[in-house]
Amino acid sequence: MDTKLVQKVSENFAKNFSSEPVLIYSPGRINIIGEHTDYNAGFVFPAAIDKGIVAAIQKNNGNESTAIAIDMDESYKFDTNNLDTSNLSSWQAYVVGVAAEIQKKGKTFGNFDIVFGGNIPDGAGMSSSAALENSVVFGINELFDLGLTKYEMVLISQAAEHNYVGVKCGIMDQYASMFGIENSALLLDCRTAQAEPFKIDLKEYQLLLFNTNVKHKLSDSAYNDRRAVCEKTAEMLGIDALRDATEADLEKVKDKLSAEDFQKVLYVVQENERAEKASTAMKEGDLEGLGKLIYGSHNGLQHQYKVSCDELDFLVDLAKENSNILGARMMGGGFGGCTINLIKKTAVASFKEKAVAAYTEKFGHECSPYEVALSDGTNVIK
Ligand code: GLA
Repeated sequence: MDTKLVQKVSENFAKNFSSEPVLIYSPGRINIIGEHTDYNAGFVFPAAIDKGIVAAIQKNNGNESTAIAIDMDESYKFDTNNLDTSNLSSWQAYVVGVAAEIQKKGKTFGNFDIVFGGNIPDGAGMSSSAALENSVVFGINELFDLGLTKYEMVLISQAAEHNYVGVKCGIMDQYASMFGIENSALLLDCRTAQAEPFKIDLKEYQLLLFNTNVKHKLSDSAYNDRRAVCEKTAEMLGIDALRDATEADLEKVKDKLSAEDFQKVLYVVQENERAEKASTAMKEGDLEGLGKLIYGSHNGLQHQYKVSCDELDFLVDLAKENSNILGARMMGGGFGGCTINLIKKTAVASFKEKAVAAYTEKFGHECSPYEVALSDGTNVIK
């Protein structure tokens, strides 16, 4: 827990409001493997992390709610009795969109004040947006005693993203942020929404992230386009989702798809297999096998699904040259954000130094290394 962040958020709340707030921690997430499989009803392997959003929230009896985004130094006022969801900036859409989705479920609640801040940069691919959505739904549920289950809250956060942010995301980010377990990753079956927790013990290895500090434009429309290709292909095959397809099935519709789209759906089927194999490798303590699957995932994301970018590829190529790194790949939606590396602990310091220097020389700005601990999901800070 980042006590400085908790203090900063509490102090800001105290400066602006007179009540005693409920404090909520809502984590971001990493994903070991299983990328772009969630909206295909497949497997993903995420974990909540010790970085995310801290929110201070309390009811008020007036007819106006105030949301303050400390990191943007912005505030926004709205009335829960008459929510206006037009013309929202992106952080406002996360807050007001969640409130609107809760109301769609037939739940009523009054006005509230919320102050939030975070310690993962926007666009890093660590799901600061899911963390924020979950903090809002969790906070409102807690304050107004709405009786929503955690899974209902996950679906509300996801719907806010679909309807007010415009990204037709799967369920991985909101689920991992809500249901995370300390020191564990979750093998999540996105069809059943059942997760198997895995205690993560990487022996002399650890996970290390590098944020490219870039987020290329068009990433949201590229995401929705790919989702549409997957759904169209599933429909052609007469199945519910690509999770049910084999490579042999795809061959049957190959001539109805462009060569590019065929590679995309092939990637999804193969990535889903990799995610399942990764869980076996993890159970058997086969870190080399796991690493190979992680490299395989990047290869598919780069060449078949085409959601990587030069900055991510550069960092993965650098990892491949280093025998202390068993696997590396881009993480999350793509077009920027982070790479995740499975690296020997003793090699972390030197690789960080080398990667930052080489990256800066190549792109003219730094990449940022992150070490993360796996944490519990969204919860009230006691
Ligand atoms: C984004 C989405 C997730 C998932 C990943 C790709 O993070 O929000 O639902 O699809 O991209 O795996």
